[in-house]
Amino acid sequence: MIRFIPVEDTLAIRNAVLREGKLTLDQCRWPGDEKEQSFHLGYFENDKLICIATFHPQSYKDFPGAGYQLRGMATIDGCRGKGIGNKLLNFAIVYLRGQKANYIWCNARKNALKFYISIGFEVISDEFEVPNIGLHRVLYLKIQ
Ligand SMILES: CC(C)(COP(=O)(O)OP(=O)(O)OC[C@H]1O[C@@H](n2cnc3c(N)ncnc32)[C@H](O)[C@@H]1OP(=O)(O)O)[C@@H](O)C(=O)NCCC(=O)NCCS
Repeated sequence: MIRFIPVEDTLAIRNAVLREGKLTLDQCRWPGDEKEQSFHLGYFENDKLICIATFHPQSYKDFPGAGYQLRGMATIDGCRGKGIGNKLLNFAIVYLRGQKANYIWCNARKNALKFYISIGFEVISDEFEVPNIGLHRVLYLKIQ
């Protein structure tokens, strides 16, 4: 089951999956999390939160239309590769289309590129290094 969740509920999974559990929960908050149109989604299995994603209203460079940046996409260890991330992201795409958003973009880790491309995202940047995290590329998905 997919639900809108408060940012607080994302912090432990952000830390465990995306920051190797090295940060405090407060350090896992990001600028933009509290913007009025930002939202956070959670996928629950038997009431346990197992996959999260955050969307901030944020355009990419001078791309036209209303853009949202996808951040903090993560499925907990042991639950990956079962189509859960795919379901969560497709829920967000349908929701954002209804909100009249035009595109989603993200800084994607190299190891997650195939996941995003299989959903329809296109690579729109060269590879770049995010300090302490690794190689990334910018991905873009037009949603209307
Ligand atoms: C990237 C990540 C969020 C994907 O979440 P997930 O729940 O594993 O995603 P899915 O199961 O939908 O897709 C993952 C793979 O499983 C495959 N898969 C298996 N069963 C599937 C099913 N029933 N339906 C759809 N896809 C399925 C998909 O094809 C996909 O393969 P691909 O990556 O080669 O395209 C997850 O792997 C993760 O948290 N990774 C570590 C953190 C990370 O890198 N986050 C991204 C930061 S940019």
